[in-house]
Amino acid sequence: MYWMPYTGNRLMKDNPRMIVGADGCYYLSADGRRIFDSLSGLWCCSMGHNRREIAISVTSQIATLDYSPAFQFGHPQAFQLANRIKEMAPADLDYVFFSNSGSEAVETALKMARAYWHLKGEPERTKFIGRGKGYHGVNFGGTSVGGIPSNRALYGELVDTVHLPHTLLRDNAFSRGLPDKGVELAEDLEVLVEEHGAKNIAAVIVEPLSGSAGVILPPVGYLERLREICTEHGILLIFDEVITGFGRTGRNFAADTFGVVPDILCLAKALTNGCAPMGATVARSEIYETFMVNGGPGYATEFPHGYTCSGHPIACAAALAALDILEEEKLAQRCAELAPYFEDAIHGLKGLPYILDIRNFALTGAIQLETYPDEPARRPAEVAQDCWEKGLYVRYAGDCLAVAPPFIVEKEDIDFTFNVLNDVIGTLP
Ligand SMILES: Cc1ncc(COP(=O)(O)O)c(C=O)c1O
Repeated sequence: MYWMPYTGNRLMKDNPRMIVGADGCYYLSADGRRIFDSLSGLWCCSMGHNRREIAISVTSQIATLDYSPAFQFGHPQAFQLANRIKEMAPADLDYVFFSNSGSEAVETALKMARAYWHLKGEPERTKFIGRGKGYHGVNFGGTSVGGIPSNRALYGELVDTVHLPHTLLRDNAFSRGLPDKGVELAEDLEVLVEEHGAKNIAAVIVEPLSGSAGVILPPVGYLERLREICTEHGILLIFDEVITGFGRTGRNFAADTFGVVPDILCLAKALTNGCAPMGATVARSEIYETFMVNGGPGYATEFPHGYTCSGHPIACAAALAALDILEEEKLAQRCAELAPYFEDAIHGLKGLPYILDIRNFALTGAIQLETYPDEPARRPAEVAQDCWEKGLYVRYAGDCLAVAPPFIVEKEDIDFTFNVLNDVIGTLP
């Protein structure tokens, strides 16, 4: 029997929500209903579902080269895709290491950071700094740097990490776009550096815009200040752009949108439009060069890390076709163009019962609900179940509902989404 991931298995199996098809921005449920996909799957199908171009690319690849060993051999599509990502990425984020998920992209980044310092003769730089409410996937490294307590509670000793405070301030409730208040929270990084010693810290990892914890935005000036402090102390800055990468903030990467360049970028999800599992960790040239120069004799493996399916030909084929669509249809731009309409629509819910906060940026938003005593997740789950019955898939996580539709969404679909939410939340007992 199927043990479902991140799912209340008992509830789901008692009352299954089964999806059997998809097209454009809609799913088809097993009971034959069209369901609007207001979260692009799980933040990944940004170009809409069942894109023909991706199907053709994947079909042709599987008939030509289904698999090629990821270690010690190469295939052209992996090189082509790495070059493509390098062209899109800011500054000298030039070297792309492939994996199979966002969690693996993060794990790779963390191991890369520690190994980098080791090779530079500073092996004591092993500590990581994450942030409260951060989500960086489910492997041990990502669980350690993540800051959602329920994701960490069951797993015993984790990797050596301390956390910055999150940036969710009551004073910023109902801000439109980036909140004004909270830049001073970046100064906590100085405090942690002072306390733990820069010479012991490998990297700081943050999502420029936290998705999973409910679209938590960086206060104006906050990311810039993190960058300054990291640079000052020689600490690597990792941006986890697993959700924000490939257009979600209206530019290719949140690093472009917010004008702050990290040393390592973690990507996944929309890279293949969710059509094949793939993660990518992109490093600045100096990091790659450090491995090449200090990585032993020419035949040696400089970075003993990688996955059987790193740069899998099918995933590469899906990604190359997805990135063509993103560029040819100017979908990041479309996401930015639709942002004001989306912003007005989501903030139109303000004033309904139980809504404590509404946050948005580009085509991404969250609605935070007042919780039942000691049951933070219950009300969003109830709302989402009602929405599903009314033809809307909306994601709930913690005390929030999150909305992040595909970039091909029409204004009528945005209206539909917030009309359903208005009906459901407006009639909550
Ligand atoms: C910011 C961030 N990092 C990492 C991950 C993990 O990605 P995956 O589920 O593909 O392992 C996610 C997933 O939602 C994410 O939002």
